[in-house]
Amino acid sequence: MTPDELRRQLEFYKDLGIQQLYRREPRPVEVAAPLAPVAPLVPVEALPAPPHVEVRPITEPMMDITLPGLAPENDTLERICSDIGDCTRCKLHRGRNKIVFGVGNPATKLVFVGEGPGADEDAQGIPFVGRAGQLLTQMIEGTSAKEGIPLKRADVYICNVVKCRPPENRTPEPDEMEICGQFLFRQLSVLQPKAICALGSTAAKAILGGKDGVTKLRGKWHKWRDIPVIVTYHPSYLLRPYNQDAKREAWEDLKKVLHFVYD
Ligand code: URA
Ligand code: SF4
Repeated sequence: MTPDELRRQLEFYKDLGIQQLYRREPRPVEVAAPLAPVAPLVPVEALPAPPHVEVRPITEPMMDITLPGLAPENDTLERICSDIGDCTRCKLHRGRNKIVFGVGNPATKLVFVGEGPGADEDAQGIPFVGRAGQLLTQMIEGTSAKEGIPLKRADVYICNVVKCRPPENRTPEPDEMEICGQFLFRQLSVLQPKAICALGSTAAKAILGGKDGVTKLRGKWHKWRDIPVIVTYHPSYLLRPYNQDAKREAWEDLKKVLHFVYD
């Protein structure tokens, strides 16, 4: 890679909001052994050779980073899907059965972004098909019906921050979110929806950057590039019986985004 190409690629990452680059494996840090004390008046030739200390050029670690590919001009969902291929870019590939790319209407005005596939999604390769997914479908279709908006799940687009199921459904780690996030950003760039609904803190952090969770972010508009973003509770959170206030709030968030997009 020429320095010019490298600079262009780094600028591209900055545009994507990528703050840090991760190396595949941490390198061992080499520390020079302390010099043995030397008796005085020994001729230089008789001294032991100094320990070898390797000096690496500063630019060298750039070369084995997991570099996201450049978003091609005239990008398409098909192109993103084929670039993902049989992806092994992050450690989540180890436990997955199917990559869960996304479903819905590619001409949609509204995109929902979740966290990552669960067991049902991993088995079927389709996002939000398990219990949380059924609730999401009900929320989309039920709320729009009540509000007089004729909208079905198939009319929107649904995807996740990471495309492979995290082991034991754990939260995706920052490196995984950043590596797989490039595909989410390409999806959003291609779809160019009128609004994005981030489901839960992981989606909110991936899309908006920063560390704030749902309670801090919900109830107001945010932006990803120029696209308005609403943050609300993840449907899995709403499935817990003690989160009744959150249900009412999620319903308000959904009404807000549906009216904004479809009025
Ligand atoms: N939870 C998510 O965040 N995404 C899915 O696809 C399913 C459950
Ligand atoms: Fe690749 Fe994303 Fe799966 Fe990681 S989670 S292996 S980056 S598709």
